[in-house]
Amino acid sequence: MKRIAVLTSGGDAPGMNACIRAVVRACVHFDVEVFGISRGYQGLIENDIKQLSASSVANIIQYGGTVLKTARSKDFMTPEGRKMAFENLQKQGIEGLVCIGGNGTYTGAMIFEKEYGIPSMGCPGTIDNDLWGTDYTIGYDTAINTAVDAIDKIRDTAESHNRVFFIEVMGRHSGHIALHAGLAGGAEGIFIPERENEFEEIVNFYQSKNRKKEFSIFVVAEGETEGHAYDIAKRFQEIYPDTDCRVTILGHIQRGGKPSSNDRILASRIGAHAVKALLEGHRNEAVGVVNREIQFTPFKDAIEHKKDIEDNLWTLNHIITR
Ligand code: F6P
Repeated sequence: MKRIAVLTSGGDAPGMNACIRAVVRACVHFDVEVFGISRGYQGLIENDIKQLSASSVANIIQYGGTVLKTARSKDFMTPEGRKMAFENLQKQGIEGLVCIGGNGTYTGAMIFEKEYGIPSMGCPGTIDNDLWGTDYTIGYDTAINTAVDAIDKIRDTAESHNRVFFIEVMGRHSGHIALHAGLAGGAEGIFIPERENEFEEIVNFYQSKNRKKEFSIFVVAEGETEGHAYDIAKRFQEIYPDTDCRVTILGHIQRGGKPSSNDRILASRIGAHAVKALLEGHRNEAVGVVNREIQFTPFKDAIEHKKDIEDNLWTLNHIITR
């Protein structure tokens, strides 16, 4: 394999630039020509592909976002779109892809390989940490730190006013960010889609005789099945009309900012290993780090399995906040 291209697809995540950099530098190291595809699969369809060199990725490791830009390409979901993408790869003589993103990115790469035989390796780039085959995804650590920083600030004003805050964090279908940020931010209750009856629990907790505090922080995952933070706050306010409730939705602030050193290191390891694996003949696999070791997981498994939250942390939060 003499020509490899890299793309970022789906929601951006801090550390994607570090991963791109590692892919490019590893290609240079292994004497392979490397290309950057802009706006994920959409750029592949539109032939927005440029050759990169070691210096093209200088001075990007410290930045959030993705220098290659990203998109959630609807066209790539169509056979016509994928045909155009394949023709563009052929024109450039590109024989392998490194695709940085989440579940949708892996799905696209898997279908593309099935139809056109282009080998891909996936790098887990999403703040949600909802990918099987890696303990942590690129961007997750930074997103948690951003969320915890915001929770700390909200705590100051919550305490000053004796208010109850419901803080919504990202996680479309998962509660990983909510659990970690809630635990690190000292939240008294955490609402996540992986567990049930949290509302009942906090009502019981609130009514318990031991409760002396006058303000509270609750963290709600965006994907919570009992509703969004506003819905939950409304229900809470109906039961406790005298409490002063507020809702804060942290939103996309969690996707930006300087990647943490953990994310930079994770992204660098994964990016370099994706290239090495492609050259060694791997294909259709996601690169991850499990128990500190590099692990390869077939796309099919990474897509089909749901990564559960750490149950020990869930239990821990109940113990230390009651
Ligand atoms: O997948 C990452 C994520 O940030 C989710 O937590 C969130 O639901 C989604 O992306 C938001 O996507 P968009 O920026 O396209 O609205």
